[in-house]
Amino acid sequence: MSRTYSHILVTGGSGFIGSNFIRFALEQRSDMRITNLDALTYAGNPENLSDIESDERYTFVHGNIGDDKLVRELVANVDAVVHFAAESHVDRSILDSKPFLETNVMGTQCLLDACRHVWSENSDGKAPFAAKRFHHVSTDEVYGSLPLDQPEVMFTEDTPYDPRSPYAASKAASDMLVRAYEHTFGMDCTITNCSNNFGPYHFPEKVIPLFVTNLMEGEKVPLYGDGLNVRDWLHVVDHAEAVLTVLENGKTGETYNVGGNNERSNLELTNSILSIMGFGEEKIRYVEDRAGHDRRYAIDATKIKRELGWQPTRSAWPAALEETVQWYRDHEDWWKRVKSGAYREYYAKQYKAG
Ligand code: NAD
Ligand code: DAU
Repeated sequence: MSRTYSHILVTGGSGFIGSNFIRFALEQRSDMRITNLDALTYAGNPENLSDIESDERYTFVHGNIGDDKLVRELVANVDAVVHFAAESHVDRSILDSKPFLETNVMGTQCLLDACRHVWSENSDGKAPFAAKRFHHVSTDEVYGSLPLDQPEVMFTEDTPYDPRSPYAASKAASDMLVRAYEHTFGMDCTITNCSNNFGPYHFPEKVIPLFVTNLMEGEKVPLYGDGLNVRDWLHVVDHAEAVLTVLENGKTGETYNVGGNNERSNLELTNSILSIMGFGEEKIRYVEDRAGHDRRYAIDATKIKRELGWQPTRSAWPAALEETVQWYRDHEDWWKRVKSGAYREYYAKQYKAG
């Protein structure tokens, strides 16, 4: 049965996917209020939501998901948490895994504990988590890596976890914690494991916005290894719709895989970007491979499609990639501020940067 929520806490709502989710949810649900808790790390940018800042249904709170006191205060006022906040970039986790453990594991633990205590203390005691839900946003990287020579094999919800980067290990640990809180304390939790997203407001350290903006700046694009690693690309608003669908209709305790059925090798992706932007392969600079680089990700999203009726409608290739390239052409000011770090000055005046 479909649920409605009057007020949700979104964590990490100033990042790429969180900001797209907040915009989408406010558009779709006129009665929903959203509080966004974000620490504004290097990846968090309030400018991503400047168009909805004045919407009275939206509140921004600058803070850390590991701040126990703050998190308990916020959780007391909402009927659901949608948890996006994370350190999200694999290459950074290879350089320094500590912030990944702190935010992705301990931060998730802090949120779960706040929900467990505050929601049950504020209940009648019989059904402590009735009408409250914790939705955890996770990744296909927890499942490990697939071979290139078995294209029919994909990740399902039953694929054993096999995380292979510090980032993936931290997300796998957070998924397990969520499952443990559901099992041990009877909390109402759902999880989505999604493939690679693309679209507006993507931080330009990730491959698509990095390559598009490099080309706009007259630079080459650094392709790792042989360029044959495969990712399954999904438009970020299709992901936002999947998260809202699971929040409202998913079964407690369940995991749903989310993907675009849109596998591309990095070389194929790069050639598509080059062709859309009018360049040739001379713009590719082959560079040293990522350490432990996962070869292929591919999501089988049959469960969320069959049980909840979700379908990707914005990810058609190459049209969706062309639209995304156009978005970066139309928002040069945004990505130039982000790439130069000047966006931090923009909000440092308003918030103490995290
Ligand atoms: P992002 O790096 O763009 O944004 C992360 C946001 O979290 C930022 O606004 C940052 O300021 C905030 N944050 C980080 N640490 C925090 C803390 N301790 N307290 C409060 N806020 C904090 O990430 P994204 O790409 O939008 O990813 C969002 C979520 O989706 C992550 O959990 C990620 O694992 C998951 N995911 C991402 C993808 C993808 O392709 N980008 C795919 C599947 C799943
Ligand atoms: O699969 C979901 C995951 O997708 C999310 O959980 C992560 O948060 C998100 O960052 C993304 O991880 P990837 O490592 O797949 O994304 P990234 O954009 O960093 O890299 C995509 C592919 O492109 C990967 O095979 C590495 C390659 N690459 C990346 C960069 C940054 C390059 O060849 N050159 C580059 O400069």
